[in-house]
Amino acid sequence: MTTFKSRDIISIKDFSKDELLYLLDLSGKVENGDHSALLNGRILANLFFEPSTRTRLSFESAMRRLGGSVIGFDEVESTSTVKGESLSDSVKIIEGYCDVIVLRHFWEGSARLAAESVDIPVINAGDGANQHPTQTFLDLYTIMKTKGGLEGLNVGFLGDLKYGRTVHSLAHALSHFNSKMYFISPPTLKMPEDIIDELNEKNVSFVELDSLEEISKEIDILYCTRIQKERFADPIEYEMVKGFSRLSKPLLDELGVKKDLKVLHPLPRVDELDSSLDTSPYGAYFQQARNGIPVRKAILLSVLGAIS
Ligand code: CP
Repeated sequence: MTTFKSRDIISIKDFSKDELLYLLDLSGKVENGDHSALLNGRILANLFFEPSTRTRLSFESAMRRLGGSVIGFDEVESTSTVKGESLSDSVKIIEGYCDVIVLRHFWEGSARLAAESVDIPVINAGDGANQHPTQTFLDLYTIMKTKGGLEGLNVGFLGDLKYGRTVHSLAHALSHFNSKMYFISPPTLKMPEDIIDELNEKNVSFVELDSLEEISKEIDILYCTRIQKERFADPIEYEMVKGFSRLSKPLLDELGVKKDLKVLHPLPRVDELDSSLDTSPYGAYFQQARNGIPVRKAILLSVLGAIS
């Protein structure tokens, strides 16, 4: 297995099954251990060109809890990008101020470009509609913890599968674990062709649907996503699909889902998850968000070579 030290975290496709399992195992050790001084003196740069609550703050919290410190920005307007500085130039400069870069940017491929421009590790915190690999690590960690393993699960993906970068990354990752996948979306927000082609090439079992009803009794995990208004070029297209799914505890009970079904969501939610799910046995999304801490601690410790 390739070492994680000095490694960029750009796409979940860059990781083998063994590497995914290694990082998940390390996350468990980190969650249960004390590593509070291992990153003393190290600096993380959080470069957020798009809004974020969970990813930015959990990376910051993870770094500080490991003894490190954090610099960065969360709005483009306060940076020299507005004067015309390129992303490549910006990260080359910032490389001199820190040990690791966490980047969220609206361009697909931005994290790869940044990683090619610098010698320190770059962690992709979401590049447009493309990938969000650290979210996928924490999604897998949550599935593993709630279901006791990753192999052979029936996983429903519900909502915006076209623009939802978290579902793109997760579908790829689960393809290593004999999952059967159900892609449930409006016709205009189906999984992109390249992901469908990849799953076909790998002989992964999947079905595309436009409603949850017919497979509701089969699934072990239901991964919901928000219909992302900000990704639509045409507001009319958004109006036609908003409110596509509204899950609630009474609805899932009525559909006869498995008693141990877990509902995940990368959050933020708008109206797709009713609050009746929050404290129900189905709702695992708040736990999922909290799992960002051990998983991002494990990622920082390993790419900075502080643990193996
Ligand atoms: N899940 C996620 O990426 O949330 P944020 O956009 O708040 O970081």
